[in-house]
Amino acid sequence: MIPIVKTIEEVRKYVKAWRREGLSVGLVPTMGFLHEGHRSLIERAAKENDRVVVSDFVNPTQFGPNEDFESYPRDIEKDAALCSDAGAAVIFNPEAEEMYDNALTKVSVDKITKVLCGKTRPIHFDGVCTVVSKLFNIVTPDRAYFGQKDAQQLCVVRKMVKDLNFDIEIVSCPIIREADGLAKSSRNTYLNDEERKAALCLSRSLSIGRELIENGEHSAEAVKAAIRAEIEKEPLAKIDYVEIVSFDTLESVESISKPVLAAIAVYIGKTRLIDNFITE
Ligand code: PAF
Repeated sequence: MIPIVKTIEEVRKYVKAWRREGLSVGLVPTMGFLHEGHRSLIERAAKENDRVVVSDFVNPTQFGPNEDFESYPRDIEKDAALCSDAGAAVIFNPEAEEMYDNALTKVSVDKITKVLCGKTRPIHFDGVCTVVSKLFNIVTPDRAYFGQKDAQQLCVVRKMVKDLNFDIEIVSCPIIREADGLAKSSRNTYLNDEERKAALCLSRSLSIGRELIENGEHSAEAVKAAIRAEIEKEPLAKIDYVEIVSFDTLESVESISKPVLAAIAVYIGKTRLIDNFITE
């Protein structure tokens, strides 16, 4: 069975030993409760690196006071089986005390963290950037793998890596969906049967938006209106945002010409789900 390492010292020992042998290292940062989306990241990392570390840590600093830190699903034994099967070498599964130990330092990316999810989750990206920087310094990977499902996170991490000169390649991996289109997420487990059906309005509305763009619609407002209209047909859904932005600056666009990110966040009952697409 794959080793589940609890301390920073121990994970560093593994990495140092691999480095002595001249091996490359990939990192897949996760909060655990792994699904097929995570598996695709781990498998890709295992293809592109000699050794893969999966971090499995529900990071308290990226949850707001009224969010789901306590109830966030956890299952380290199941995670270990998936990691081992997907080709990872080690799971890093620290306690919060091990990671934070009275830390007073934060990493904060400005501007692009204040839009989209940053509006309803004001401390979220400081938590993400801080923990991801720490994981980068602990594991010192050659490459780190992030899912396009969290497109804003990907954009923020890329900017942080550039601004702070981390010598790490950030690899973006496509969204993995259920057969009926729902984007895989650990939070899907919160949905009851009725909500699970209702949640399909996210992928359905995005398909409508994508098709409009593919058929030549240039007005971002028209595409957003069509996406909103589809979500609003669903009584259990409440829109947090529907945005079309430039993928690097995350600034709203009026006219769709170059590649854009169409991103949505929707409450289905109490569960907040996100989804997106990026145009060619
Ligand atoms: O995407 C996630 O699961 C988390 O935000 C991450 C990158 C593991 C940081 O805690």
